[in-house]
Amino acid sequence: MSWTVAEHDFDKSKVTTNGNKYMTGNGYMGYRGTLEEFTKEQLTAVTLAGLYDKSGEQWREPVNAPNGLFAKLSCNGQPLGVLDADPLSHCQELEFRNAVHRRETEYGIRGGKLTFTAERFVSMDQLHLLAGRLILHSTADCRLEIETGIDGEVWDINGPHLTERKEQCKAGTALSTAITGELKLPVAVAERADFTFDVQETAGEGAMRVISFDAKAGETYEWFKYVAVYTGLDNAGDPAATAEQEVLTAEKAGYEELLKAHCAVWEERWSRCDCRIEGDEAAQFALRYSIYQLLIIAPTESEKVSIPARGLSGQVYKGAVFWDTEMFMLPFFLHSDPRIARNLMMYRIHTLDGARRKAAEYGFLGAFYAWESQDSGDDACTLFNVNDVFTGRSMRTYFRDKQVHISADVVHGIWQYVTFTGDDSLLVDGGAEVIWECARFFYSYAYYNPVKKRYEILDVTGPDEYHERVNNNAFTNALVKETLEIALRVVQLLQDKYRGHYPGLAALFADGPFVAEFNEMLEHFYVPQPDPENLVIEQFDRYFKLEEVTLSELKSRVINKNEYWGGGSGLATTTTILKQADVVLMLNLFKATFSKEVKQANWEFYEPRTEHGSSLSPCIYALVAADIGSPDWGYPYFMRTATVDLTGESKQYVGDLYIGGTHPAANGGAWMAAVLGFAGVQFDGEVLRLNPALPGPWQSVELPVILRGGLFILRISRNEVAVTAAADNREPLAISAFGGGDMSCLPGAKLRLLNSAAASEQERNGQGKFIREERKQMLEHMKGAIFDLDGVIVDTAKYHFLAWRSLAEELGFVFTEEHNERLKGVSRTRSLDILLEIGGMEFSEAEKLAMADKKNRLYVEYISGLNESALLPGVKEYLNSLRARDVAIALGSASKNAAFILDKLNIAGLFDAVVDGNKVTLAKPDPEVFQTACKELGLQPGECVVFEDAEAGVAAGKAAGMLVVGIGKPEVLKEADLVVTGLHEL
Ligand code: BGC
Repeated sequence: MSWTVAEHDFDKSKVTTNGNKYMTGNGYMGYRGTLEEFTKEQLTAVTLAGLYDKSGEQWREPVNAPNGLFAKLSCNGQPLGVLDADPLSHCQELEFRNAVHRRETEYGIRGGKLTFTAERFVSMDQLHLLAGRLILHSTADCRLEIETGIDGEVWDINGPHLTERKEQCKAGTALSTAITGELKLPVAVAERADFTFDVQETAGEGAMRVISFDAKAGETYEWFKYVAVYTGLDNAGDPAATAEQEVLTAEKAGYEELLKAHCAVWEERWSRCDCRIEGDEAAQFALRYSIYQLLIIAPTESEKVSIPARGLSGQVYKGAVFWDTEMFMLPFFLHSDPRIARNLMMYRIHTLDGARRKAAEYGFLGAFYAWESQDSGDDACTLFNVNDVFTGRSMRTYFRDKQVHISADVVHGIWQYVTFTGDDSLLVDGGAEVIWECARFFYSYAYYNPVKKRYEILDVTGPDEYHERVNNNAFTNALVKETLEIALRVVQLLQDKYRGHYPGLAALFADGPFVAEFNEMLEHFYVPQPDPENLVIEQFDRYFKLEEVTLSELKSRVINKNEYWGGGSGLATTTTILKQADVVLMLNLFKATFSKEVKQANWEFYEPRTEHGSSLSPCIYALVAADIGSPDWGYPYFMRTATVDLTGESKQYVGDLYIGGTHPAANGGAWMAAVLGFAGVQFDGEVLRLNPALPGPWQSVELPVILRGGLFILRISRNEVAVTAAADNREPLAISAFGGGDMSCLPGAKLRLLNSAAASEQERNGQGKFIREERKQMLEHMKGAIFDLDGVIVDTAKYHFLAWRSLAEELGFVFTEEHNERLKGVSRTRSLDILLEIGGMEFSEAEKLAMADKKNRLYVEYISGLNESALLPGVKEYLNSLRARDVAIALGSASKNAAFILDKLNIAGLFDAVVDGNKVTLAKPDPEVFQTACKELGLQPGECVVFEDAEAGVAAGKAAGMLVVGIGKPEVLKEADLVVTGLHEL
C-alpha cells in the first residue's frame, strides 16, 4: 500500500496547490511543498506557529521565517530551475509515512544531462531543525554553480514583518536575523552547508553563498544542509546564538543520524494513529494522507498555540484558529494523542483574557471567544471580511460579532477532553473558569421572551454563514444549552472532587450570574425541536419562509464565479440554500438525543439544500449517514473530504481574497467520518461502543486508540469486532458492540464480539466456541481465581437435591428438579426457606434449625463416599495450570462442608484460601464471600476472576467488581463475562 504522493511532471499551474499538497512540518513550523529554487513568487514559506505580526493597518498574520533550504543551480552559465529550463523529466514526491520530501529533475545540458536530486525533512525529533541532502550528477563535463544559503525575501500576504534584517555568512554558517515589526521579537535562521566535494570558488552576499566547480561526467556531487529556526518566543536564550549552535551540532551528527531520529519519531506517531482500511485502497490512501496533514501541524510541545484553519500552510486566514479545531480536529487527537488534545485546550485557557475583552467590548459578561483567534485571544476577524467582486467595496460581515457559538464550541471541546480522557485536572488548570465565563456570556447574551416565557438566543450567525443575524439557530441554541449544563456539572464535579480548589474558583463568580442563574435559564431555555409532522428541525426562526430554489438553479444565477453568496445581498441569503452542515451538525453532536427517523428526515431535507461551500461540511453528512445505517450515502462525502488536499479542488478565492492552503478541519473530518462514522467507534469516558456501518467496499477498519491512558487496537468489520488491550493497561475497559450489553476487556486480553446475525450463523455451523476461545484470553492476566464449589468443581448438586427431596418427602410434599433450580448458589438456611415456601409451610426458627441439620446429615451421608473421581472434567488440570502460572486460588462457596469435600476430592492442597459458609454470613448475590476470598488472597477485586455456575453467584462476582466466568448456559448466565460449559474448556 502506497505511502507516497507524487507528481511525475512539472506543471506550472500547480505550483500553488502543490505547495499545500507536498507540505511538511512538525507543529512548530510548516514548510510548504515548493521546490529548492523557488522563492516568494512561488509562495515558498516557513510558517511559524504562534508568532504573529501586524504591519501597518493591514491585518495580523503569522510570520514566515527566511528560507534556509534555498538552493539554485546554474550550469555552464545557464540558470537551471524548473521555471528557467524545460526539464527533461521531473518528479516531486512526499513519503508521508516519514514526512520526507524528494524531487528529482533532469535537465538537458551541453553534451548530456544533469540530474538534480534533493531530499529534505522538517525534523519531528528536533522541532527547530530542517535538513536536506542534495545530489548532482552529470553525464557530461560542465561548470556548475550552486547558489545556496538563506533566502530572506519571504512571502507575506500582509507584510513585511521582518524588520532590521541582518544577513551574514561567517565560518561556514549563514545567519539571517530580524525583529518582528509589532512585538519586536527576534527571529533567527542559521544554516550550514556541508559539501562533500572540492569547492573551487566561493562568493556570495549576505546569507547566501555561490560555489562553483568543474563537474566531471559520471561523478556524483553531494552536499547537505542543516537549518535551525528560533524566535523570541522559544525561551531558548539568544535565538541567533542558539540557532548557530544547533546547526553545528546537527552537522556533527550528520544527515543520516538526524533522518533516523526523525523517522523513529514518525514511526512512533503512526503507531498511535494509523488507521487501516481493508478493501478500499483509494480511501486508505486519502485517509492516511489526511492524518499526515494533522500530524505535521499538531502542537506537540506548546500549549500556547493551537491549529489554525489552514494549518501551517502559509498566512491564509490570518493563521487564525477557528472553531474548526474543537469541532473537527480534536476528536482525532483525543483518540490518538491526548497530550496534544490537552495542548489544544490549554490554548483556549491561555487566551481566556482575550475572550473576556471581546465580551466586554460588545457589552456582555464572561467570555466571548474570538472567531479568529491568534496569540492573545483577541479577535483577528475584521468587520469587513469579504470584498464585493462587483463594486470592489468591502462588505460588512458578521462572523466576528454574531458567531457566538464559538464560545459554546470551546466549552464543548474542553468537556470532551475531560470526559474522554478522565483528566479533570484541566478544569482546575483553568478549564472551569473558561466554561463558567462562557456560560455567563450566554446568560448575558440571551433574551428572555416574556410572551413565550423562555430564554432565546437572538441575532446570531450559525455554522451556515450565508444566513447572518438570525434568531434561534437550532445549532447555536443546542450548544448554549449544553454550555449551561456543563457549567453546572463542573460546579458539582469540583465540589465533590476538588474541595480545596472550588471555593477559590467560585469566589471569582460570587457576584453572579452563576449557579442559580444558570439553573434558571436552563429551566426555561428554548431549543428548536423536530416538527411533529415531518421531523425536520427549522434551522432558525422563519427559515422555512425563505425562497425554495434548487442548488443548480441558484448556481445558474451566479454572475461572477468568485461572488460571495452570503452577506446583505448574497445569492443564498434570501433562499433556503445553506453554506454548510448546520442542523445536521447539531444532530451529529447530540446523536444520542435524536431518533434515527429525525436524523434521516433532516439529512434528506438539508442535504439537497447544502452547497458544501466550506470544506467542513461534507464530512458531517458522512457521519450522520453512517449513524443512520446508510454508510453508502455517506461514502462520497467522506471521499470528498479526505481528498480535499490531494486534489486541490477547493475554493481558492472568496471575493478577491485568496483562501487556499491545507484544510485541517477536513482532514480531521475525514478521520471522524471513517472512525466515528463508518467504524462506529464511540467512547463516552466509560464504555467503548462499537457499532460499525462500513460502506460498500470496506471489509474492515483497524486502528489503535488511547482510552483513559490505555492503548487498545480495534479491528472492526461488518459482523465482528475485536479489541486487543495492551498488557500494561491499568484497568479493564467496558465494551459494547452491535448494540449489545457491556463486556470487560482486561489488560493484555483480546475480546472478539460478533453481531447477532453472525453469532447465530456461527452457532449454526457448529462454531459457537470460536467467540469464546477469544474471550478466554481475558483470563490470562488474572492474579487470583475464586471458585464456587458445587457445579464448578464437583457436582454435589445432585446430592443436595437428593437430601432436600428426602426432607420434602418427610414433610409430605414433592420437590422437583425444577424447584431445585431456585436453590442454586443459595445458603442452606435460605434454601430451607425456599423449600418451605414451595411446600407452603411455616415453622419456628428452632424447628427450622433442626430441619437444616437433618438435611445436612442426609447430604453428608451422600457425600462421604466422594473421591477424586467425582471431580468435574478438567478441574484438576485447570487448578494445576493456575498453580504453575502463580495464580492464587480460593474457594468461595456457601457450603459449610466445603473443606470436607475438598479433602475428599484430594485437592485441598491446591487452595490458598477457603471461604465457605462458616466464614461469611451474607448469601450470594451478596458479594461478601468473594470479597472475603479476595482479601484472604491479598489481591484487589480487579485482579480476581470468579468461576460460578449460578445466576446469584455470577451476580455476586460482578457486585464484587470481578470478572466472572459462568459455567453453564450463556442464556442463563447472562451477566457473566464469559460462559463455558466447564473448566475443561479452559
Ligand atoms: C467556514 C467556517 C470555518 C472557516 C475556517 C469558513 O469558510 O464557513 O465554518 O470556520 O471557514 O475554516
